[in-house]
Formats: sequence, structure tokens, C-alpha cells
Amino acid sequence: MALYNKAAEILDKVEQKRGAVKTLVYDSKFQNIKQLFALVCETQKYSSVIQEIIDTTKLLKETKLRINLAKVLVYDLLFGQGLKCGGNWKAMMLKHRSRLQAALARMKVKQKVSRNEDLLPTNVRNAGDQLPRYVRVNTLKTTLEDVIDYLKREGFSYQGHANGIQDLSGLSKNAFICDLHLPNLLVFSEKTDFHDHYLYKAGHIILQDKASCLPAFLLNPPAGSHVIDACAAPGNKTSHLAALMGNKGKLFAFDLDAKRLSTMSTLLLRAGVTCHRLANQDFLKVDPLGADYKDVKYILLDPSCSGSGMVCLRDGSSEQPEDQAQTQEASRLQALSAFQQRCLSHALTFPQVQRVVYSTCSIHTEENEQVVAACLQQNPNFRLVRLLPHWPERGLSPHTHCLRASTTKTLTHGFFVAMFERQSNGSQAILSQQTQPSPSVVCPEGGTAEVEEDIREELCSPNEEQDSTAQKKKKRNRKRKKHTVTQ
Ligand SMILES: C[S@@+](CC[C@H](N)C(=O)[O-])C[C@H]1O[C@@H](n2cnc3c(N)ncnc32)[C@H](O)[C@@H]1O
Repeated sequence: MALYNKAAEILDKVEQKRGAVKTLVYDSKFQNIKQLFALVCETQKYSSVIQEIIDTTKLLKETKLRINLAKVLVYDLLFGQGLKCGGNWKAMMLKHRSRLQAALARMKVKQKVSRNEDLLPTNVRNAGDQLPRYVRVNTLKTTLEDVIDYLKREGFSYQGHANGIQDLSGLSKNAFICDLHLPNLLVFSEKTDFHDHYLYKAGHIILQDKASCLPAFLLNPPAGSHVIDACAAPGNKTSHLAALMGNKGKLFAFDLDAKRLSTMSTLLLRAGVTCHRLANQDFLKVDPLGADYKDVKYILLDPSCSGSGMVCLRDGSSEQPEDQAQTQEASRLQALSAFQQRCLSHALTFPQVQRVVYSTCSIHTEENEQVVAACLQQNPNFRLVRLLPHWPERGLSPHTHCLRASTTKTLTHGFFVAMFERQSNGSQAILSQQTQPSPSVVCPEGGTAEVEEDIREELCSPNEEQDSTAQKKKKRNRKRKKHTVTQ
């Protein structure tokens, strides 16, 4: 009952423009945030379809339910995995089930479609329900090979390494494949749900969109380094950083929101992260000259943003007149952009920082290229690193060194990543090498999967980074430079 009440309450608040779905879900204090988030998003997605079913069956009149409560219950009854409540509501909904199912069937006949998804308005359907599910293997607890073996033994069919983006879509129900850009990332069909799976519950796998794996992967802090995750909760990128560091070094994670930090603490514990230090603190007030941060060379900054890239958070329905909504949106974006610029400029003031990755799950240039441009102008001692030359979607011109991600071109949520690097003689040298063709720059979609695999091997072996002899250090440095070149 609590799940449906909360979900309905959140949908009410979204309609009253009292906050974004993501924030409202986190603020709800509900114990299973993921379950609640999924229910709210999915109900929103099917909202127009459910509304029609409720209208034609006169469900509200029959049951006296509030509209959004009726919507979430109808969603789970007809489109979800069945009602998760008992008592009066379940009895009432079961009483109306055949009428509701009949209304759904009539809609399908009328629209000449066979699947529920085909009833969705085109903009919603194309947006995200076709996205593959991505699973990051948590190398702090297991290995890619062990996870693949485990899943094969469970009846999943392993398809090897993807050669192109097209291999990631249209996977059959039990099939899975290794991603072509990121190591330790497995890709499944859009229907796959691992929330109840042992590997997820034990922290061996992390359910994380591919685009959201980019920031830590690109920052790639070596084992033993000192790293800041500036706006860290709920912590998926923090746990990814810790995995890349092999849990060696110091990972300072800040967040303003105590509730999100407490969720994060649980997540990090489950993921076996031990090298972190969590602080409920405003990153903008962290003193870059503080003794604790004197060796910080890597900063990941993933600040609050509009969330416009998150497919289920794009809510086109607005009761407001269009020009009023546009003005509100513009001033909201301006405020976010100003905040993001302050955070990024602050990150660049840490005295030893060499690399800062800036990311958002926004599709708005105000929060992405414009923030980058402003900070570059104010910080001439930093420049952008050209990231993953073979990635199919770039930042808007002239910021093509940065990456964008989208449902259409990369089969992920909308995302943006930039990496700043302090300019020094050393980094100039690295950057100049980047303009020269190297085998790693060959596009894997052009059929060079082996080259891509070599890079993958090279980029994703945190254990190797733990060697302590001078010779191995040298070798590591060479590899690190090469990593920069290959990105
Ligand atoms: C996009 S979320 C971060 C997601 C996180 N990086 C992850 O991968 O799980 C942004 C976070 O920034 C936090 N935040 C906002 N303003 C902040 C500030 N001034 N200092 C620290 N954290 C802040 C929010 O509470 C929110 O948890």
C-alpha cells in the first residue's frame, strides 16, 4: 500500500510542479527507492494509455480512488509485474481486472497493435523503452569472466564482444553481450531486470546506464591516488572510481544531501568500497588548500542538473501556457548553469589537480558546452582532452573534444562528459600526440574489434596499477599516457 500511496503522491507533486521526479523520489524516505522510481517513471510513461482505460471503464466512479492512485494501481495490474499490495485495494482492483484488461485489449484492436509498448505515443516510445539494460561488473568483488560464467550457467546466452552499436539493440530476452566501448560492462535486452538477482544484491554487479559509466572510466584514477567525487550521492560513480583504484588510495566523496548520503553508504558497503571518506558537505565550501586535499590529482564533478537526459524524466505534459513554461525553464536552466560553473571553477582551483571530469545527465547546452566554455575561458591553464575518438556522438561544435550520449546515437540516456587537464609541458606533449593517428583511434565499428580489446585490456586492469617497483611505475606511466592518447 505504501508503495502506491507514495507513487501517487509523487505524481501529484510532479503535476503541481513541486519538484523533479528524481528529487521527489529521493526525498520520499521510501525504503525501496529504485522500486518507487521505476513505478513512477513507468506510470508516467503509460499515463495517456492508462487515462483512457480509466475513463472508458469509469474506474474512478466505481472505486472512488484518486486519479494518480488509480493510475499506479492500473499500471502494475496491467503493465507491471502484478499488484504488490494486499487488502482492500487488491480486492477492489481484482474485481475490476477483467473490465480493465478488456479495455486494454480493445485499445490494441482499435490501433491494430499487439504489444503494450505500441500503444505509447511515438515520442515516448522512441525515447527510452528500447534502451538496452547495462550491467557494470564490480571488479572489487568479482571478475567479468566469473559473472559471464555465472549467467551462462543460469541459462543466459553469451554473445561475445559487440563490434558496433547496432549489436547492443534487439538482443533476445536471455542474450547478453560485452560492450564495445567500456570494459566490464555487459549489455542485456531492455526487458531484463536484475533488481532481484543474487549478483546485484551481493554487490557483484551494479545496474548503471552506460553513459553514466563514462565519467569514472575516463578519469581513470590510478591505484593509490587521491580523488574527489564532488557531488557523489547516491554513489554509482564513486563505487566505479573505487573499483578503478582497486580500493587503494583516498576517495573523498561529498554531498549536500544527508539522505542521499545514507543511501550511498549502503550502496558502497554492498559494493565492497573501503577507500572512501564520505562527508555531508557543500563542495563549494571545501577548502582546496586544506591539508587533506593537497595530493588530490583527480576530481569527478557530476553536479545537480535538470536531468533532461533521463528519458523517463522528460515530462512533456504541462498545464501551463507554453510561453510561461518556457520562461520558467529558461531561468531554471540559467540558475543550474551558474551553479555548475561555480562547482567546476572550484574544482579547478585544487592546487595539485591534474584532471577534472565534468558530467551531467542533461541534454541542454546551457548545462554542458556553455559551462565548459565559460570555465575554459576563466582557467586558461586547463584544456580539454579529446575523449574516445570512436565515440559516435560529440559535444556541440566547437566542443567536439567532449562527449554527448543519447537514446538514438549511443542507446543510452542523454548525457554529457568533458575532461579538463592541467596544461604543463608533459600534458602538452600528450595532447600533441593525440592528433597523430594511432591504431587505437581506428573506429571499432569499422571492424577492428581486436584493437579495441587490447585497449580495453590496457585500460581496465586496476590490479596492475598496484605494482610498486620503479620499473612498473614507469611502465604504468607510459600506459597512462597511452590511455590519454587513446581516449
Ligand atoms: C547528479 S547527482 C550525483 C549523482 C552521483 N554522481 C552518482 O553517480 O550517483 C548530484 C548530487 O549533487 C548533490 N549536490 C548538489 N549541490 C551540491 C553541493 N553544493 N555540494 C555537494 N553536493 C551537492 C546533490 O545532493 C546530488 O546528490
